[in-house]
Amino acid sequence: MNYSEVSAEELNKLLQQEQKELKKITKRGLQVDMTRGRPCKEQLEIAMPMLEKAAEYDYALKAGDARNYGQPQGVRPALELFAEIFDVKPEEVIVADGASLNIMYNLIQFAMQFGVLDNTPWNKQGKIKFICPAPGYDRHFSICEKFGIDMITVPMTKNGPDMDVIEPLVASDASIKGIWCVPKYSNPTGITFSDKVVERIATMKVAAPDFRVFWDNAYIVHALYDTDDKLKNIFDVAKKAGTMDRIYSFASTSKITFGGSGISAMAASETNIKSIMKHMFYMIIGPNKVNQVIHVEFLKDLDGIKKVMKMHADILRPKFELFEKKFSEAFEGDNYLSWSHPKGGYFISLDVKGCAKRIVEIAGSVGVKFTPAGSTFPYKIDDADSNIRIAPSCPSLEEMDYAIDVLISAIKIAQIELQLKRK
Ligand SMILES: Cc1ncc(COP(=O)(O)O)c(C=O)c1O
Repeated sequence: MNYSEVSAEELNKLLQQEQKELKKITKRGLQVDMTRGRPCKEQLEIAMPMLEKAAEYDYALKAGDARNYGQPQGVRPALELFAEIFDVKPEEVIVADGASLNIMYNLIQFAMQFGVLDNTPWNKQGKIKFICPAPGYDRHFSICEKFGIDMITVPMTKNGPDMDVIEPLVASDASIKGIWCVPKYSNPTGITFSDKVVERIATMKVAAPDFRVFWDNAYIVHALYDTDDKLKNIFDVAKKAGTMDRIYSFASTSKITFGGSGISAMAASETNIKSIMKHMFYMIIGPNKVNQVIHVEFLKDLDGIKKVMKMHADILRPKFELFEKKFSEAFEGDNYLSWSHPKGGYFISLDVKGCAKRIVEIAGSVGVKFTPAGSTFPYKIDDADSNIRIAPSCPSLEEMDYAIDVLISAIKIAQIELQLKRK
């Protein structure tokens, strides 16, 4: 339905109809929280055998007992596992505790206070800035806000961040120190960066000698289908271009085993890794290596991870497909909204210009909670009031079905209200 072509009188009738429809839907009375991309209970069960066998695993490693202090970079088998995931050498990896976000935060803290390699600390260089492709991951933006780093919003395209906008900025402004990227099954748009974008990020001219790409590969093994997206290895490009020190990459098992109780890792040049380990010396004597051994024993290698991820995909896929089915039926031929069709990751990105806040408000008022509208943009400012992040993982299929019905109705109500305002 093209509401913009409908008379005010007709719109008022439609609004009443739609409000009745929403009341009918909400008779089911469910409460659904879709604010964050949390794995659901069935997904969490997948890794339980890992704990059941924990007492049998061999913790006596060549480099020392994993149950004791030491091995601050992580245990060798875990370094090898993440080296295979990142497609780098084990010497280019640090394996840490339960949250990759914690590593990202620490790296910014180190850069602010001590500087990157031999460069002046960021907090002694005046105002510094980060490139923030948007819509993007709200927690990246929160870190910048916390540290007082100015954020430059750059649009996301279907191939990744808009490099035509980024290249001239970073080439001419040495106060731009970094860029946030979620290169595979991006949060929230679900896209995977094209080879060309990966190459441009790795090779672009940067004015700041201490510029860093925060390559947050949180969804590196998170395909929903057998046809996994192929992401070009940024380290291969950077090695050839001599820009290896520019890249920090991150991943974790938060959505492979347990959210927050898994293991996390970063990959970077050996020069960066050595420098980071020097800072970490003061922070920690060693990570939770028992958990690292448990994870390696359970996951084994990349093939083992893929088997586990297939079990996750079998649980997640029906939820994504239910959304796609219901939305394409409800909005067939409508051009006032669009949504993403991800082949992996944890999110669907919905765009309804001019009424995202109102949609989230209506859905929230009947017990269906979404991430606040605007959260996917720096400073929570979505100029077009358009983007809503949908996280289908945690609700059951029944809850998902309900939440989608509510969302569809909320979209129609908000759109009718918007058109009425314009009359
Ligand atoms: C892009 C991205 N990075 C990082 C994280 C958090 O990862 P971790 O649990 O390893 O801190 C998430 C979680 O939703 C995410 O979407």
